[in-house]
Amino acid sequence: MWRGGAYLLLLGVAEAGLFGLRRWLVARPLAGVEAAMRADLYRHLQRLPVSFHDRWASGQLLSRATADLQLLRMFLAFPLTFLLVNSATIVVGFAILLAQEWTLGLVLLAPVVPLMVLCSWFETRYSIGARVAQDQIGDLTTIVEEGVLGIRIIKGFGRHRSQARAFGSLSRRVRETELGKARLLAGLWALILTLPELAIGAALVLGTVQVADGAMSAGTLVAFLSTALALRWPVESMGFLLAMSQESATATERYFEAMDAPEQADMTRESAAGKSPSGADGLRFEGVEFRYADAPADVPPVLRGVDLHIRSGETVALVGATGSGKTTLTALVPRLHEATGGRITLDGADIAAMPRGRLRELVSVAFEEPTLFSATAADNVLMGAEGAEEAELRRALEVSQAGFVYALPQGAHTQVGEQGLSLSGGQRQRLALARAVVGRPRFLVLDDPLSALDVHTEALVEAALRQVLATTTALVVAHRPSTVLLADRVALLSGGRIAAVGAHHELLRTSAEYRALMSGAADGGSSR
Ligand SMILES: Nc1ncnc2c1ncn2[C@@H]1O[C@H](COP(=O)(O)OP(=O)(O)OP(=O)(O)O)[C@@H](O)[C@H]1O
Ligand SMILES: [Mg+2]
Repeated sequence: MWRGGAYLLLLGVAEAGLFGLRRWLVARPLAGVEAAMRADLYRHLQRLPVSFHDRWASGQLLSRATADLQLLRMFLAFPLTFLLVNSATIVVGFAILLAQEWTLGLVLLAPVVPLMVLCSWFETRYSIGARVAQDQIGDLTTIVEEGVLGIRIIKGFGRHRSQARAFGSLSRRVRETELGKARLLAGLWALILTLPELAIGAALVLGTVQVADGAMSAGTLVAFLSTALALRWPVESMGFLLAMSQESATATERYFEAMDAPEQADMTRESAAGKSPSGADGLRFEGVEFRYADAPADVPPVLRGVDLHIRSGETVALVGATGSGKTTLTALVPRLHEATGGRITLDGADIAAMPRGRLRELVSVAFEEPTLFSATAADNVLMGAEGAEEAELRRALEVSQAGFVYALPQGAHTQVGEQGLSLSGGQRQRLALARAVVGRPRFLVLDDPLSALDVHTEALVEAALRQVLATTTALVVAHRPSTVLLADRVALLSGGRIAAVGAHHELLRTSAEYRALMSGAADGGSSR
């Protein structure tokens, strides 16, 4: 008695100790696995082409990087171990049972076949539910994110109610999906609990009859039933262990959907012509065509054969009706999108054959939407040039007339907040412009860089910008005559082609469309 008790106690203590050890052994590497997978995803997302991000809602990506990875880590930490341990326990337990009393053991084994069939049916259903739920969480994340980023619009237009309704209806759907999953799980649990209980009951009756007949000792029956009862928890736990495996399987699937999206290959096309002998040839568009991958098939490509030559050192203004494809054309130069036809050369070298890193050293861009990061004003500007000095920063800020940063509480080292929301539109635009010019790029592409400035500031920026433009080859999208005047020549983009090139005054005389655009008579939408 005492010896047996002491053995049991020892076993209990050892089990507790091993449990603790497992936690300790598993937690650290798993946190590492989660962090590494998240870092991989982040790195991959940064390398994916812009067209991927056009297609994917950010909430879907966010939920994959957070909720799905967390599910996966939790699965690896707890259910995976128990799936292995409990399966082993069940196998060994049944072997012992069969060895003790093989007839009664077979009675206990009887429900295994129907249980396996039911479990596999359940797994299919449950994995569909889990996938739907995780996708819905992604959509919910998107709504929350848009709601936070667009809070000014929502408030300004009094849209909280409709926004809350959209959120409410989606979160109700998430709840329904979760309830559906719970119903499935409840059904499975009921079965997993009932069938083995019935088998134990049957074994008890049969065993008692055998004991009464004297065919078996009471002690054997008690030992047999104790072993059978010890197997109850491992069997019962299979229900939720399988459910959690399904959830983490879908989470893994969702993770790898994003991970498996192909990155842009470098050196996609071999340059046919190579470097031109002249060396300083400027920026050349030759028959450039582009259509957005997700555009409907019956819509003509945005760009249908753009031919334009910006000579070395020259500044060309790009003018065109709204929606005519100016922004699209500027995005082709740093290869944010790949031209679907024709070629673009920088000093004679085809950009399609140039390593991206090299290309983006040569070309600097400022977009219509000035985007700032949650960093200091100086860091935001210096993103434009690796290792630029304080003097470069000062010069860039001067060019863009962004002297206001020195008046901020910590000067140029003031945090400018998420997306630079603490700055005015014109201030953000000037910082984005400073970022474009800080590295003294060989080629400068500016998409309507002065649109948010008042007339006075615009004049100051133009005066300073003129000096920068004198030293680079530049393509400047312009809407206003004052910006157009910065350029040596003007190109009119219309119908997906360059319809006319010439000096401002020349085009005013010869092109009715240009005249209409510059006098403000043209309204948006006409891209013919
Ligand atoms: N990501 C996209 N996917 C599909 N179509 C797009 C995408 N971005 C723009 N377009 C379409 O391409 C056309 C040209 O757009 P783009 O932004 O280049 O015009 P834009 O000339 O810069 O206009 P604006 O003067 O208003 O800035 C538009 O008809 C637009 O609907
Ligand atoms: Mg545009």
